[in-house]
Amino acid sequence: MRQSFPLIGLVCATASVAALDYLSPPVYPSPNITGSGGWEAALSKAQAFVDQLTLEEKADMVTGTPGPCTGNIAPIPRLNFSGLCLQDGPLAIRPAIYASVFPAGLSTAASWDKGLAHQRGLYIGEEFKGKGSHIALGPVVGPLGRSPFGGRNWEGFSPDSYLSGVLVEETITGMQSAGVQACTKHYILNEQETQRNPSVVNGVAVDAISSNLDDQTMHETYLWPFANAVHAGTASLMCSYNRINGSYGCQNSKTLNGLLKEELGFQGYVMSDWTATHAGVPAIEAGLDMNMPGGIPFTSATPSYFGENVTIAVNNGSLAIERVNDMILRILTPYYALGQDANFPPVDRTSQPLSFFPEAEWVHNFTLGPLVDVRAQHASLIRELGAAGTVLLKNTNNTLPLEQPQEIGVFGNDAADLTAGQYSLSVSTGLASGDYDIGTLPVGGGSGTGRYSYVVPPLDAIKARGQTYGAHVQYITDNFVISNGGLTSLAPTPPEVCIVFLKSWASEGEDRTTLIAEWNSTAVVENVASVCPNTVVVLHGASPNVLPWKDNANVTAILAAHFPGQETGNSIADVLWGDVNPAGKLPYTIANQESDYEKNLVNSTELVESTDPNAWQATFTEGQLIDYKEFDAQNKSVAYEFGFGLSYTTFELSDIQVNVAATNASRTPSSTAKIIPGGNEELWVTLATVSATVKNTGDVTGATVPQLYVSLPASEAGPGTPVRVLRGFEKVALAAGETATFEFPLVRRDISFWDTTAQTWRLPSSRIGLAVGFSSRDLKLTGELTV
Ligand SMILES: *[C@@H]1O[C@H](CO)[C@@H](O)[C@H](O)[C@H]1NC(C)=O
Ligand SMILES: *[C@@H]1O[C@H](CO)[C@@H](O)[C@H](O)[C@H]1NC(C)=O
Ligand SMILES: *[C@@H]1O[C@H](CO)[C@@H](O)[C@H](O)[C@H]1NC(C)=O
Ligand SMILES: *[C@@H]1O[C@H](CO)[C@@H](O)[C@H](O)[C@H]1NC(C)=O
Ligand SMILES: *[C@@H]1O[C@H](CO)[C@@H](O)[C@H](O)[C@H]1NC(C)=O
Ligand SMILES: *[C@@H]1O[C@H](CO)[C@@H](O)[C@H](O)[C@H]1NC(C)=O
Ligand SMILES: *[C@@H]1O[C@H](CO)[C@@H](O)[C@H](O)[C@H]1NC(C)=O
Ligand SMILES: *[C@@H]1O[C@H](CO)[C@@H](O)[C@H](O)[C@H]1NC(C)=O
Ligand SMILES: *[C@@H]1O[C@H](CO)[C@@H](O)[C@H](O)[C@H]1NC(C)=O
Ligand SMILES: *[C@@H]1O[C@H](CO)[C@@H](O)[C@H](O)[C@H]1NC(C)=O
Ligand SMILES: *[C@@H]1O[C@H](CO)[C@@H](O)[C@H](O)[C@H]1NC(C)=O
Ligand SMILES: *[C@@H]1O[C@H](CO)[C@@H](O)[C@H](O)[C@H]1NC(C)=O
Repeated sequence: MRQSFPLIGLVCATASVAALDYLSPPVYPSPNITGSGGWEAALSKAQAFVDQLTLEEKADMVTGTPGPCTGNIAPIPRLNFSGLCLQDGPLAIRPAIYASVFPAGLSTAASWDKGLAHQRGLYIGEEFKGKGSHIALGPVVGPLGRSPFGGRNWEGFSPDSYLSGVLVEETITGMQSAGVQACTKHYILNEQETQRNPSVVNGVAVDAISSNLDDQTMHETYLWPFANAVHAGTASLMCSYNRINGSYGCQNSKTLNGLLKEELGFQGYVMSDWTATHAGVPAIEAGLDMNMPGGIPFTSATPSYFGENVTIAVNNGSLAIERVNDMILRILTPYYALGQDANFPPVDRTSQPLSFFPEAEWVHNFTLGPLVDVRAQHASLIRELGAAGTVLLKNTNNTLPLEQPQEIGVFGNDAADLTAGQYSLSVSTGLASGDYDIGTLPVGGGSGTGRYSYVVPPLDAIKARGQTYGAHVQYITDNFVISNGGLTSLAPTPPEVCIVFLKSWASEGEDRTTLIAEWNSTAVVENVASVCPNTVVVLHGASPNVLPWKDNANVTAILAAHFPGQETGNSIADVLWGDVNPAGKLPYTIANQESDYEKNLVNSTELVESTDPNAWQATFTEGQLIDYKEFDAQNKSVAYEFGFGLSYTTFELSDIQVNVAATNASRTPSSTAKIIPGGNEELWVTLATVSATVKNTGDVTGATVPQLYVSLPASEAGPGTPVRVLRGFEKVALAAGETATFEFPLVRRDISFWDTTAQTWRLPSSRIGLAVGFSSRDLKLTGELTV
């Protein structure tokens, strides 16, 4: 009986020969929770709770219901269970008032700062808890960033798996230490927004895009940061809209039962993305534990598949009650582990989404609390991280930091205050409503956005700075005016410094159509630079971008300022005036021109109009070679490489040391070793340590980020092995003249490759190359390692 379920996902995979090469093997049955990793006591409490539930209550526990939050599990008053509140998203409680809008994952990644990433996670967790939300729908490591055009890449960290992995762990441990469950998403290969969901073309149902991927790339690139998330104890994961090897993300037994619950030992629950469930019993058997939003979906045309159907399926014998029990144990174990059964605040009634569910449908079922202001002192971290996530790309003749210039010009639509509202997810105008002309862009749009209780626009922050010493600030924030001769109004001309603010929009639900900042940005920069020989360009928004004007001699400084959150103006002013010495590094590659990147995005008018249900296929033929790994493999020059970023001081590296902890280690982890959350426990054991010394050789205090790159031998690891991969980084702050030694521990996984035949991680026998530097192409020290 069970063995027939996987066929459901495969039945329609007949149209494309290429797609047939990629099939998801059936992996059944769904593994049970064991409580490993420290959740044993919580599991017993969950078991005691499950023992008291009726079948109907069990069905309710795994099915979303209308309520005050983005997703809701109904209360069971007779058991004192007050229900579960799930809220968007990764950088804010999206719809809430009196809550903070933090820097995006992208800015966090550009800071390369583990401590700040942890602090951000903690504060986000505190805000969710304060508003009565048990589960925060974040962080994001899928999309990873296969395509530079990916509309949601900014919600996550970096197309580098290792950097994303480290930062997702810090974020999760931070969030969960505040007593809030993390929901790491979107599992997995949700690498493009275009056709992420099924569509209907001329009355024909067309399936969502299928991401087709080989097993080695799955392990070494896309599954990698999810393994970190599981290792960090993420309470839940959200399965994705897309198909994987032809089978939908929320009913793919290979990815859910096989990779996640069996190989990675995941102890929490898998919830569906909103309306990503396309089956009942088959999805449950494949490993889905919770269906969101459940009973009353967005439109009455979308059935739930769970709810009453779970009850019917158990009663008619097609679904084992043990599997339903395991779903609930997985849902409630993290709840008890985080102490959410005691004194958890009620849902703040103002934090409800505006649209999903009419209040009359749910208000009797939930106890709502009063409005609470959860912002505390979080603004100071937001300001600090916004600056820390800003990367200085160019600084000719030390234009920056500014030294109290008297005549300042500010230009560009991104400098100004918001002019179209404080929320870029608007039901009436659609997800793209943040893409309006005049107004700064602190974070992107869609479910990953936040409602600003205030924003400090760049122009306001610069005016405030100038005022402290009586500077004269002129500004033009209308790009049409700037690009159509409007600069003649300046007096005197030119200002000592002209600061141009550009923005790149991105949102859930759509991919980017250009990597050049919108709103005529090239003309805006060139027109300002034509009259102003000291032009500083600040880019806000999605990444990567290409910078057609970067070699213009009058463009003396460039800052990639990303998505810094509500304190955006203060963050950039701190960097411009040198209160903060920039230490951000690019978490991605900036190419010379857009066409230098592999687009890695499947789309065409023909596809959009196709009535072949299986037309949409994204086959990841590039394997591991995305972002810097792509450019390094081709030896192609870039504008600014992965890991690059300037400072107002200079640094020097010396004295690389390699210490091997375990000589002649077994090539593979022991097959009898414990599976802990994150996989075989031996994968997480340090086998070697690389250390080096860094000195601040300039005359101001500053921080830098030494980076360790590892080169595995392609002769063993396979032909698609990247030239080098990041395997260590540490942000080091130093006073002028100061020296520090830092260490990069290498765990077994860091120096192994995935052996598809043996289905395990394997250490190479030959030499492993090592390099320590300030970027992926500024490698000052080299060494080697044999284990
Ligand atoms: C996808 O198909 C490839 C090729 O058959 C296979 O190696 C890989 O394990 C499959 N992955 C999943 C998740 O089904
Ligand atoms: C899960 O546990 C139940 C007993 O609660 C057992 O019947 C079932 O076989 C177990 N499933 C697996 C995959 O171990
Ligand atoms: C529910 O809470 C009340 C008050 O704290 C307590 O008296 C009662 O025993 C609890 N019931 C259950 C089933 O835990
Ligand atoms: C049960 O599932 C079917 C689709 O298989 C759906 O049409 C129906 O609405 C579901 N029932 C409930 C109560 O969700
Ligand atoms: C049992 O119930 C499920 C859910 O409604 C349904 O999909 C399935 O066809 C039923 N099976 C039998 C044998 O009646
Ligand atoms: C929610 O409340 C409505 C009445 O307002 C009731 O019909 C419904 O059964 C309740 N749902 C749950 C899951 O308790
Ligand atoms: C940079 O400094 C050099 C030497 O002082 C000068 O010749 C050059 O014009 C300066 N360039 C810019 C863009 O200010
Ligand atoms: C874009 O810039 C060009 C060159 O400055 C200008 O001619 C054109 O009108 C601008 N377009 C818009 C929409 O502002
Ligand atoms: C740079 O500025 C100078 C002086 O304002 C101007 O003459 C020159 O044309 C500008 N160069 C560019 C490329 O805009
Ligand atoms: C996808 O193709 C459609 C039809 O040609 C086009 O309208 C849309 O802009 C494209 N999307 C992207 C992200 O390029
Ligand atoms: C890459 O370029 C460098 C310098 O241009 C050259 O020495 C090296 O051989 C090239 N490598 C490959 C793989 O083409
Ligand atoms: C390395 O380990 C293997 C297996 O554990 C053993 O057979 C071999 O003798 C060891 N070699 C050295 C040099 O210790």
